[in-house]
Amino acid sequence: TAHPLQDQLRRPIHDLRISVTDRCDFRCSYCMPKEVFGEDHAFLPASGLLTFAEILRLTKLFVSLGVSKIRLTGGEPLMRRSLPELVAGIRAIRGVEDMGLTTNGVLLGGQAMPLYAAGLRRLNVSLDALEPELFGRMNGRGYKPGAILRHIDYAIAAGFEVKVNMVVQRGVNESEIVPMAAYFKDRNITLRFIEFMDAGNDNGWSYEKVVTKQEILERLQGTFVLEALEHDYFGEVAQRYGYKGSQAQIGFITSVSESFCPSCTRARLSSDGKLYTCLFASDGLDLRAMLRSGADDQHLLAAIRDVWENRADRYSDERTEQTAGNRTKIGMSYIGG
Ligand code: GTP
Ligand code: 5AD
Ligand code: SF4
Ligand code: SF4
Repeated sequence: TAHPLQDQLRRPIHDLRISVTDRCDFRCSYCMPKEVFGEDHAFLPASGLLTFAEILRLTKLFVSLGVSKIRLTGGEPLMRRSLPELVAGIRAIRGVEDMGLTTNGVLLGGQAMPLYAAGLRRLNVSLDALEPELFGRMNGRGYKPGAILRHIDYAIAAGFEVKVNMVVQRGVNESEIVPMAAYFKDRNITLRFIEFMDAGNDNGWSYEKVVTKQEILERLQGTFVLEALEHDYFGEVAQRYGYKGSQAQIGFITSVSESFCPSCTRARLSSDGKLYTCLFASDGLDLRAMLRSGADDQHLLAAIRDVWENRADRYSDERTEQTAGNRTKIGMSYIGG
């Protein structure tokens, strides 16, 4: 392209986060609360999902606009049938320099090998507690952490780089901060503490339930000696720390206490083909409709450019108790974080 694509705040487009399904076997209260995602919840029909061919076509267009980093998410992406085929397709696109997948880890036992064979190298596994009762309650479905921990070891043995994501909520899993840190430090696995966000609607968010980076760090410093590390690249979401005398690292994703909107270089493609530029958006561009009505590449590119060039969103910078409660936002399980 002639000019590098930039939005209203001069942010380039660098990552594409692709949601491959809106389904998940967990019911984490901060993401898919049971009251909202009940037995009769209408998930997308198979025909509503972008096909792999459609995803690959769009991915190529995004790459031509400057995207070089791809993240596959859901819902739970491993619930999408034949996912390794999509991974192989993305891997083959020239210009894709990095690809990762975010998963709850339940299905990794069967899928780690095929995914590795297809060219995936990085996994972010969500795990909020080691204590079985608590973890079972947090995931809403009684899943125990043991199998997920085994899958993590198995994936590492297979060659994957694995990071673990822990969403911390006051009064829920604060007690797990130090045990989680100790467990993953011993295994030299990066654990990232994520501040609880007001994603979607009805997830019970309030400022009081957010345990900030500062507070987590203070709790950790009671047990460990930590030193701050430099950012690896512009737009890196996590702030990383190293343990003194160890290779192990931790990270903080401070969407609430120290927002990172000024360096937000991420576009999001929902499983039904809408383009969103912010996790907290309420509406997106319907690329699926364009694809299915025969739009050519030039049309699609112009539409995507237009969305990015006009983007000015910086929700976490502007968040207040009011916006958190009153805005209609897309759900995390729909857009994949
Ligand atoms: P890496 O490439 O491994 O660093 O992945 P990542 O941290 O970008 O992705 P992951 O899916 O593991 O996301 C970790 C957490 O960061 C999740 O809670 C996401 O919702 C959150 N996150 C990622 N991007 C954004 C963003 O642009 N804005 C906000 N507010 N949160 C984000
Ligand atoms: N706040 C913070 N993180 C969240 N995630 C899902 N919902 C929320 C929320 N409300 C996390 C998941 C996963 C990642 C993709 O997003 O735990 O690690
Ligand atoms: Fe599923 Fe992840 Fe949402 Fe939990 S956070 S309900 S595992 S998509
Ligand atoms: Fe980007 Fe929106 Fe997250 Fe800010 S809140 S970093 S604009 S996705």
